[in-house]
Amino acid sequence: MEKTCFDGQVAVITGGGGGLGKAYALLLAGRGAKVVVNDLGGSFDGQGADPTPAQLVVDKIKAAGGEALANYDSVAEWESAQRIIQSAVDNFGRIDILINNAGILRDKSLHKMQIEDYQKVIAVHLDGTFFCTKAAFSNMKEQAYGRIVSTASAAGLYGNFGQVNYGAAKMGIAGMMNCVAQEGARSRINANTIVPTAGTRLTFTVMPEDAIGKVKPEYVAPLVAWLCSEGCSESGQIFSAGGGYYSRVAVVEGSGVALDPDKEITIEMIAKNSDKIKDLKEAREFYSAMEQAGTILSGMNKE
Ligand code: NAI
Repeated sequence: MEKTCFDGQVAVITGGGGGLGKAYALLLAGRGAKVVVNDLGGSFDGQGADPTPAQLVVDKIKAAGGEALANYDSVAEWESAQRIIQSAVDNFGRIDILINNAGILRDKSLHKMQIEDYQKVIAVHLDGTFFCTKAAFSNMKEQAYGRIVSTASAAGLYGNFGQVNYGAAKMGIAGMMNCVAQEGARSRINANTIVPTAGTRLTFTVMPEDAIGKVKPEYVAPLVAWLCSEGCSESGQIFSAGGGYYSRVAVVEGSGVALDPDKEITIEMIAKNSDKIKDLKEAREFYSAMEQAGTILSGMNKE
């Protein structure tokens, strides 16, 4: 099989100073990409700033003979997010790959969560992904090529106690990428979502110690790099990866029931049909909201 390489391509990795982002940066740079390693370098809950993490990754890439540049801006504001993307264009001439990976945690039960804990998590994850994607998208559209990979979480897909803020942001990111994929299709811009599992500073407190070595960020990186490669045509998809496990995740809709809208539809009719409404045996995937709406309209009056 031909070796995947990124020669001549430019990648921006947000939160690339540690954990998963560092693994992505090292892999892409090792395969020839010029990499902007962005990292604000704050604490895991988003306090402070430190240029060291991004700089150390850049030093490592350069020591191995690669090309990289550190950027210390925050993804969470529009002006600073634009500077991140602009640093790739100014220094390397273009941007082919954007990996939206920067993240923080402010876990608290809903009852105890402060408004600031919610807003800060939304700002870094959801706003940060939007700002960087928007800034990169114009460049990618102009050159008619781009690969965007953004980071969701099982906490958003499936729910997790104490992560209302984080779950909302992460599921929002998956929805955002579904729409970006459609807008990018005509310009060869692919957008996908990754749901990683890895032992990093974000998971050290919740993962058993013996599990951490088995879920190294390096195991997630090959799937992300594949999604970033020119030969990969996937777009609008969600993939799960961790500890050598790789899988596609999908939102599906059951075939449901179609009650006659020309007659009265009562609460009791819904209750009576609830098993059929919930049944997923004949579930299907839709590739756009338009496709789903078309299916609803064509299924009307069938019962
Ligand atoms: P990490 O804490 O090692 O990496 C996150 C990086 O983002 C840090 O280096 C941090 O300094 C940087 N960062 C934080 N706020 C920033 C900002 N405003 N601007 C720029 N950089 C900023 O944690 P990890 O686990 O590598 O997380 C990477 C991504 O993966 C995050 O989005 C996280 O939510 C997500 N994730 C991780 C999982 C895991 O099992 N480790 C599970 C599900 C999702």
